[in-house]
Amino acid sequence: MSSNLAKHFLLREDVTFLNHGSFGACPRPVFETYQRFQRELESEPVDFLGRRLTELMKPPREALGMFLGTTADNVVGVVNATSGLNIVAQSLPLQEGDEILTTDHEYSALEKTWAYVTRRTGAKVVVVTVPMPFVSEVAFTDAIVAGMTDRTKVLFLSHITSPTALVFPIERPIAEARKRRIWTVIDGAHTPGHIPLDLPGLDVDFYSGNCHKWMMTPKGSAFLYARPELQVMLNPLVISHGWTADNKEPGVQGPFGNSPFIDEIEMQGTRDPSAMLAIPSAIAFRDEHDWASVQRACTALAQETARRLGELTGLPPLSAPEFSAPQMVAMPIPECDPQEIHKQLWERFKIEIPVFKWQDHYIARLSVQGYNSKPQTDYLLEALAELLNLGAEPARKRQHG
Ligand SMILES: Cc1ncc(COP(=O)(O)O)c(C=O)c1O
Repeated sequence: MSSNLAKHFLLREDVTFLNHGSFGACPRPVFETYQRFQRELESEPVDFLGRRLTELMKPPREALGMFLGTTADNVVGVVNATSGLNIVAQSLPLQEGDEILTTDHEYSALEKTWAYVTRRTGAKVVVVTVPMPFVSEVAFTDAIVAGMTDRTKVLFLSHITSPTALVFPIERPIAEARKRRIWTVIDGAHTPGHIPLDLPGLDVDFYSGNCHKWMMTPKGSAFLYARPELQVMLNPLVISHGWTADNKEPGVQGPFGNSPFIDEIEMQGTRDPSAMLAIPSAIAFRDEHDWASVQRACTALAQETARRLGELTGLPPLSAPEFSAPQMVAMPIPECDPQEIHKQLWERFKIEIPVFKWQDHYIARLSVQGYNSKPQTDYLLEALAELLNLGAEPARKRQHG
């Protein structure tokens, strides 16, 4: 795999950046579109935000709706997936005795969100231990279904998990939840632009995802989707100009000419919408560069790197390959001081990659995006071999394009 796409990104050349998963990275032309919107805003803020915003938001909302298999009315812009999921968690009418069913692979900010909700409502979080290694959809579904009781009101799952980089097969758990009238809330922080999405096809109630990770938009662009008949249940985290006290049914217009769902959540005080406005440019960038082929090459490189590290460590993978996120792999490493390895990778080798302990596993989480190349993953393997005493050649200090 060559790295001839690297020139389109703003990443530092002295860093081997193998951590797209944490905060994404934005291609130059998309970032320029974003800055053009910011300059236009500053040239006449009242015209931009006061008169034109509803019209300006139509193309990104429509493009995003189409990208997610739904329509513009069902997606509302939020600054990040954490905010989108907080809107849902803090709106659902939970009470003492209710249960929120989730797994032991969730992202810490969302674990905290539900912990906060339980304090306010008296509801309880029930954590399912997902059978590992992750090799069977049936075993996963059975474990989730076994956790459902008459008290379960919410099923909260990541679609792609953060610590283990797994694609959870969420379709059957969602169907089982629906049969039992359990609300489904999905954390899709890593999915848009990473795996194909058809939100109505998933039959999910609430789904929040980031555009600023794998769709490669600037930071601060994300969405919340809600099944149309449930949109009326959601309240914004900040009450502001877009709020309507009553009459929020679909088809009714909010004060800014969108549905109340969109106006209430998007129109909160003064905000810079430029990151959302850059969404069509990010989709165009993908189309111009045949992103499906780029992704296939990234997946092959990610899997090959994980396999080669496995040969050096002798450790088995966390999952069967079909459950690993295509461009992100949680690679097991031998027992170590993960903070020290992370620090050494950065300070000695200028390699950016998360290294951490999750449950009993020590993990280096590799992300491969279009700007990465095989010499970079070779360099990572050499550095890990040296730091973890895996018996390979010492890593040479070098730069990669
Ligand atoms: C699974 C998961 N959920 C939520 C988030 C939070 O994303 P954000 O910080 O953009 O809200 C992350 C961030 O990496 C994540 O991995």
